[in-house]
Amino acid sequence: MSDTRVPRRRRFLVCEPRHFAVRYSINPWMHPDTPVDVDLAQEQWHGLISAYRAHGHDVDTVEPVPGLPDMVFAANSAVVVDGRVLGSLFHAPERRPESLHYETWFTSAGYPVHRPRSVCEGEGDLVWTGRYILAGTGFRTTRDAHREAQEVLGHPVIGLTLVDPYFYHLDTALFVLDDDNIAYYPEAFSPGSREVLARLYPDAVVATREDALAFGLNSVSDGRHVFIAPRAEALAARVAEHGYVPVPVDLSELHKAGGGIKCCTQEIR
Ligand code: ARG
Repeated sequence: MSDTRVPRRRRFLVCEPRHFAVRYSINPWMHPDTPVDVDLAQEQWHGLISAYRAHGHDVDTVEPVPGLPDMVFAANSAVVVDGRVLGSLFHAPERRPESLHYETWFTSAGYPVHRPRSVCEGEGDLVWTGRYILAGTGFRTTRDAHREAQEVLGHPVIGLTLVDPYFYHLDTALFVLDDDNIAYYPEAFSPGSREVLARLYPDAVVATREDALAFGLNSVSDGRHVFIAPRAEALAARVAEHGYVPVPVDLSELHKAGGGIKCCTQEIR
């Protein structure tokens, strides 16, 4: 089967963790007393960028800003579908200034940005599946923002409720393998949302809590290669059984802020 999986070339927007730190705590992973090795974070992050480029993907960068330690998590800054950009409005006041820096990048790249009126954390919670948008709520992005996303992007938005604070963004509990399938951790969702996902994706790759806690669901797939945290071994094996090719990339230093591969990656479509 692995010969039939065809990768599609992607364009990613990223931000170097030059000013990365864990200085405040806005999710259960963040402990400001834990030391962070910025050099290691940068080295690991460059490993991700090299892996993307080695697999034929284009990578653009936003200049990191001192004093914004979470700016490395580019996924949260916007969601882009068909060249339409819905920007971000962060829940945490500490992250609010990030939005304008990304907006400036998009505007100068020729993409006008629609500013959300309600808390909206970009691709962290608004996940384009290839057919519609799966939208997380419960911790960050609001239902109002889901409605706004549907209005601005013109694609159906399916709301899902997150219930476990360790999986506070949808992209920590679910990722898109290709236009037809996803991988996810059911227990991160409310019973009704779990049912919705089971109906939409009866053949989904279902992950364990261990895989999810290893940031295995914070993966990026190009339709064939799945850039995935190396500690999510069982999930990588399941993904391989389905014909995809796991590409392990370790971002353990960034996990200290509650983010992994997908969090560091904004896709420009
Ligand atoms: N410390 C960041 C926060 O809590 C991590 C964001 C991770 N990003 C993501 N797309 N899940 O907002």
